[in-house]
Amino acid sequence: MKFLNELGTLLKLDKGASLAPMAGATDASMRALCAEYGAVYTVSEMISAQALAMGDRKSALLAAGGGGAAPFGIQLFGHDPQAMGRAAALLAERRGRLGLAFLDINMGCPAPKITGPGAGSALLKDPPLAGRIARAVVENAGGIPVSVKLRVGWDEQDMAAGSAVEVALRCREAGVQLLTVHGRTRREMYTPGIHPEQIARVKEAVDIPVAANGDVASAADALALLRQTGADGIAVGRGAMGNPWLFGQIRAALAGLPVPEPPTLAQRFSVLRGHIRAMCEEKGEYVAMRQARTHAAWYMHGLRGAAALRRACCAMEHFTDLEDVIDLAWQLQHRG
Ligand SMILES: Cc1cc2nc3c(=O)[nH]c(=O)nc-3n(C[C@H](O)[C@H](O)[C@H](O)COP(=O)(O)O)c2cc1C
Repeated sequence: MKFLNELGTLLKLDKGASLAPMAGATDASMRALCAEYGAVYTVSEMISAQALAMGDRKSALLAAGGGGAAPFGIQLFGHDPQAMGRAAALLAERRGRLGLAFLDINMGCPAPKITGPGAGSALLKDPPLAGRIARAVVENAGGIPVSVKLRVGWDEQDMAAGSAVEVALRCREAGVQLLTVHGRTRREMYTPGIHPEQIARVKEAVDIPVAANGDVASAADALALLRQTGADGIAVGRGAMGNPWLFGQIRAALAGLPVPEPPTLAQRFSVLRGHIRAMCEEKGEYVAMRQARTHAAWYMHGLRGAAALRRACCAMEHFTDLEDVIDLAWQLQHRG
């Protein structure tokens, strides 16, 4: 029997997988889509606490739009406890309008422009600062539960020394209610494989729920990661790109039910159309179609003519161009 606190229970952590935050991908359209297909909760793209607190319109837009049918959290990044606290207070004030269930703190981003000033995964090198940031967010969140997403270390040496455990304990002490652990160090970025035993190490050290993250692309992967880590839940990032059906498959597997078949090609394209249409409505055709190129390419994953399809996706400018890409995909699948 897993131990779930109030937040873990609210988020139905043990019932399925959540959608992990992905900058440039987990916008309101994708969050709603994944929730519809069974994600137990979703998280926004990372938002700069500094920019949000200064009234930046683009950052505010990233926080808007809710999570559709599932609880939704907003992820903040920053290196300054004061700015993180201010941003948390601002979001807490708008909690109702935003449909916000929880706040998440980014302690995992490996990008130099984030780690340079000391945010994201750089916080693994400074556990006391990570703890102060967690406390500032918890104390200013007006009772909104707070979670933290972290990696298993900065590099191999740091991982062996247990910095993720130290950060996890400090966050716990600051009042954080849930941790999501991506099983790679900062140095490893997104490859090679993950270190499930290091996620297990964090899970063993804390008495709050832990969600394991990394490389889950099927229901079987999700079950294996839960088994290997003892974690209470699973967060899925890239596996959900072009594949929201994964959430339903994981839900079924966790309930001991038969895993639903993958969608037909017609179903895939129908959901792709709806996804990109929703993006165009959310942010306007110009911005949406540039981001839609990546999404469309993921929906084409595994089809014949991958290179030609990728090129066609990358050339899309208007929503109507999507139909040409879909036509091309059909032609390539039926070629003898
Ligand atoms: C394009 C992209 C953007 C990401 N953006 C974020 C982000 O904004 N915040 C965050 O905590 N992690 C971010 N991540 C990391 C993912 O949430 C996740 O931890 C990582 O991809 C490993 O999980 P996966 O194998 O299921 O994708 C991003 C990953 C990708 C591929």
